[in-house]
Amino acid sequence: MSKLIVLNHPLINHKLTMIRDKDIQPKVFRETLEEITMLMAYEVTRDLPTEKHLVQTPLAPYEGEQLAGLDPAVIVILRAALGFLPAMLKLLPTAKTGHIGLARDHKTLRPVEYYCKLPGELGQREVILMDPMLATGYSAVAAVDFLKKAGAKKIRFMCLIAAPEGVAVMQEHHPDVDVYTAALDECLNEKGYIMPGIGDAGDRIFGTN
Ligand code: URA
Repeated sequence: MSKLIVLNHPLINHKLTMIRDKDIQPKVFRETLEEITMLMAYEVTRDLPTEKHLVQTPLAPYEGEQLAGLDPAVIVILRAALGFLPAMLKLLPTAKTGHIGLARDHKTLRPVEYYCKLPGELGQREVILMDPMLATGYSAVAAVDFLKKAGAKKIRFMCLIAAPEGVAVMQEHHPDVDVYTAALDECLNEKGYIMPGIGDAGDRIFGTN
């Protein structure tokens, strides 16, 4: 069974409450989401493998650590996960970025793929799959399916808000993928939105509706 890690942290909770407010402007929403992403990334990347690395300080040799292996892969599910990307790439500047375009069929609530471009050698990379809202879980499951078909083996999933329903679906289909979320909300409404949630994450980030 995969782990569900709810990042219950005062700074994250404070900033998440700010962006739940429907009156916040997209600019402030994006900036605050960037700050939350940085705080979350601290935990999401906690167990990335490292190797010993020797440097020379001005005073002495020092054996420290550096990230080991091929550069990680950061995968965004379009479009809302683009809001996570600038901060993730600031922290992991050499990461390779993949994009998966999944649109939600509003009748079935099932994802339909319209775009997929992934980095090579996925099987040798630590893969961080990102989507702000883990709602029904179907998009996340479909994205992990794509990643596994492309060879990915070590995948973790990062979202801003998860619904219990989505967590259950992910854990059922991909028990090897740990889920990191800033908050676990109450449930889905009849339209598949997370309650109380933030509404449509893409609309909030990009100012559409
Ligand atoms: N996608 C969103 O953007 N918001 C939700 O609440 C659920 C899915």
